[in-house]
Amino acid sequence: MKEIDWANLSFGYIQTDYNVRCYYRDGKWGEIEVCSSESINLHMAATCLHYGQEAFEGQKAFRCPDGKIRLFRIEDNAERLQSTCRGILMPEVPTELFCEMVKKVVKLNERFIPPYGSGASLYIRPLLIGTGAQVGVHAADEYLFLIFVTPVGPYFKGGFATNDYVIIREFDRAAPLGTGRYKVGGNYAASLRANKMAHDAGYSCEFYLDAREKKYIDECGAANFFGIKEGKYITPESSSILPSITNRSLQQLARDMGLTVECRQIPEEELATFEEAGACGTAAVISPIGRIDDMESHKSYVIAKDGKPGPVSTQLYNKFRNIQYGIEPDTHGWITVLD
Ligand SMILES: Cc1ncc(COP(=O)(O)O)c(C=O)c1O
Repeated sequence: MKEIDWANLSFGYIQTDYNVRCYYRDGKWGEIEVCSSESINLHMAATCLHYGQEAFEGQKAFRCPDGKIRLFRIEDNAERLQSTCRGILMPEVPTELFCEMVKKVVKLNERFIPPYGSGASLYIRPLLIGTGAQVGVHAADEYLFLIFVTPVGPYFKGGFATNDYVIIREFDRAAPLGTGRYKVGGNYAASLRANKMAHDAGYSCEFYLDAREKKYIDECGAANFFGIKEGKYITPESSSILPSITNRSLQQLARDMGLTVECRQIPEEELATFEEAGACGTAAVISPIGRIDDMESHKSYVIAKDGKPGPVSTQLYNKFRNIQYGIEPDTHGWITVLD
C-alpha cells in the first residue's frame, strides 16, 4: 500500500481493501459477501438509476488513545436507514444485519483507520439501491445493500473555528411533505446549485429556510442547526430536515450540562438573538457559525462577535469528541468497541 499521509487527508475517496454486500431477492436478505471490487454490475433499468430508489448513511470509526476502535451510535444509523426505506418503499435492512456489516467492513479495513492524533477517521458509507429492472414507476423487487469505507481528514484543518453561511431562497432542498427527512440522493442533487452559489460567493455553506413560508430555519447545507441563548439549546422542528444523530446526541449532552433543550420553529429574525450557533453533523460534529447573511434581504446576523467559537459550543464539542475517543465514559451507551 502506498503510504497514506494521514495528517493531510481531505474528505475524498481513497480505495480500501474490501467492501461488504448483501442482496435482497425473493423477499429476503441473503448472506453477507466480502468483495474487493469497487464496481457494481447493474441492470440499465435498475430503479436506483431512474426513479431514485437510493438511500445512504454516513458514520465514522475512530482509532482511540487506548488503541481500540470505536463506532458511534451505529444502531441509530440503522434505524434512520429503516425510516428512509419506509419513505421510498425499499425493504428495511434489519438493525442486526446493518451493525454486523458495519463491524465487519471496519475490521476488514483496519489498516486504513487513521491513527489517533492525526484528526482523521474512517468514514463509513452504507448504500442501499434498487437493482431490479422496472420501466414503469414502481418499487424494485431486488436490492443491493453495500458498505464501503474510506479514510477522511479532519473537518477543521486549522483547529475548531467559525464559518460563515448564507441564506439562499432561490432553491428549496426539500418540500415540507417531501423526502427531506430521509437520506436519499435526490435531496443532495436538489442542494447542489444552492451549495455552489454559496461557495462561489465565498461562504462555507448554504443555509435553508422552510420551503413553504421561507420564514423558519431548516438546515445548514448537510448539517442541522442549533442556537444557544439564555441557557437554552434551541434547534428547529421541521418535517423537511434530516434527523441528525449528532444533533440528538448534542441535545442530550446539553441537558447533561444543565441547559434546557427546545425543539421548535425558529424564525429567521431570531438569529439576531443567539449568543452562539452551530451546524452539526458527522463530518464536523459542530461547525460553529460566525455570521449568517441573507442574500436577498441583505440582512446580516453576526453571531460570533469576536469571530471565535463560543464557550457552550466548545464544551459540547469537547465532550462529544471525548466520548467518541473513549476519553470520557460513555454514560448513554452510544459506543460500540471493536475487538
Ligand atoms: C442533510 C443533512 N442534515 C444533517 C446531517 C447530519 O446528520 P448526522 O449527525 O446524523 O451526521 C447530514 C449528514 O448526515 C445531512 O446530510
